[in-house]
Amino acid sequence: MDLFNYDNQDKELYNQVLLGDNLRVMNTLSLNCIDFIYIDPPYNTNNKFSYNDSNKIWADDISERIRIAKKLLKDKGVICISIDDNELVTLLNICFNIFGKENYVGIFITHQSQRSNAKYINIIHEYVVVFAKNKNLLNNFYIKRLSSPDDKEMIKSIITKVKNAFLRDRNTAQNILKNLLNQYAISRNITWIKNYTNIDEEGRIFFAKDLSTPGQPAPLSIDEINLYLPALKTRRWSTKEKFIYLYKQNRLCFKKGRPYEKQYLEEAVDNIPSILNFYSRQGTNDLKKLGLYGYFDTPKPVELIKFLIRAMMHQDATILDFYAGSGTTAQAVYEINQEDKINHRFILIQSKEPVAPTSDVYKKLTQVGYVNPSVSDILILRLHRYLKIHNLPIDFEIKEYE
Ligand SMILES: C[S@@+](CC[C@H](N)C(=O)[O-])C[C@H]1O[C@@H](n2cnc3c(N)ncnc32)[C@H](O)[C@@H]1O
Repeated sequence: MDLFNYDNQDKELYNQVLLGDNLRVMNTLSLNCIDFIYIDPPYNTNNKFSYNDSNKIWADDISERIRIAKKLLKDKGVICISIDDNELVTLLNICFNIFGKENYVGIFITHQSQRSNAKYINIIHEYVVVFAKNKNLLNNFYIKRLSSPDDKEMIKSIITKVKNAFLRDRNTAQNILKNLLNQYAISRNITWIKNYTNIDEEGRIFFAKDLSTPGQPAPLSIDEINLYLPALKTRRWSTKEKFIYLYKQNRLCFKKGRPYEKQYLEEAVDNIPSILNFYSRQGTNDLKKLGLYGYFDTPKPVELIKFLIRAMMHQDATILDFYAGSGTTAQAVYEINQEDKINHRFILIQSKEPVAPTSDVYKKLTQVGYVNPSVSDILILRLHRYLKIHNLPIDFEIKEYE
């Protein structure tokens, strides 16, 4: 059943919400078309069987799906899997088998809400396991500091204060910048920020990056941009092509006659640490902001998924989540597309798992007209709410599979 009519559009370009068992649905998708997969599989809570039986069933189910997931990925593709302590080892073994040890990328650690009744270790973290289809082809991971939860407030504050002062006069702006850099370097115990000491003619803050590299000293003459650089004492200059490129981008600057590359603060990037400051309860707050508090028990934080996508996908990407739950991955894609002016596309798969009739959510949904509500109804409700609040058109199609 298609709920929305996109007859005039190219359906392949649209975001998709596919309802049904993920094994069945994944088998209908084209191979080698997905750039990024995020999944948060249900944890192993099947207590109908003995631990060994249920563990084997869980492992077999996940293996079968991850095997298909690998085929759906492009050669440059990557998969991120949220998992807790109970199943980490099982999951790693499954992934080593399917992707090969050579395609293991790493594990992130994220925070989980505190459990107080632990008998031995109070486990307050979870994992995100990352494998590449072919690690040799994988993009580098990095994040714009302006999108990083650790740095964004600081950077925004520096940029705004300096820009405002710059509109009045340049010297004041320069003094304010100097003070702010010192202040943050001390209070946050960071050194990188101290490089951003320059302000350009538009009031933008930049780091003047040296353009020499290790190598045999030699002069460099670049007729195309009318530049002659005498030999340095112990190093050589960057390549001619790099100088021409920087010149064309208006990113060359000179200090005492020596050339530097302008690297703007708003574009500063950072590599990705293995411990991430996301807490599982943030996911619950994300739903609360949409008026859906308590509609789903274990939503992942939108910011966590945004962080993973941003770190790994630097160009338009097709993003698949085949255990979509409340649809956090779709919201992450919408937010990135809006904030970063990029055009990712999502495909979500979610079974029509019924909402427990005894739950409050069941009551709420039936009161507003849902009959036998399912998790997929919550997902769709969430996306509609998000798009409505942000004045965005409904741009996903829904397909049901038997
Ligand atoms: C842990 S939740 C995912 C939560 C999600 N990351 C979020 O932030 O809302 C796992 C979801 O996978 C769904 N699911 C479990 N088995 C499935 C299957 N075989 N096919 C499709 N969905 C399935 C469950 O209904 C559940 O909503």
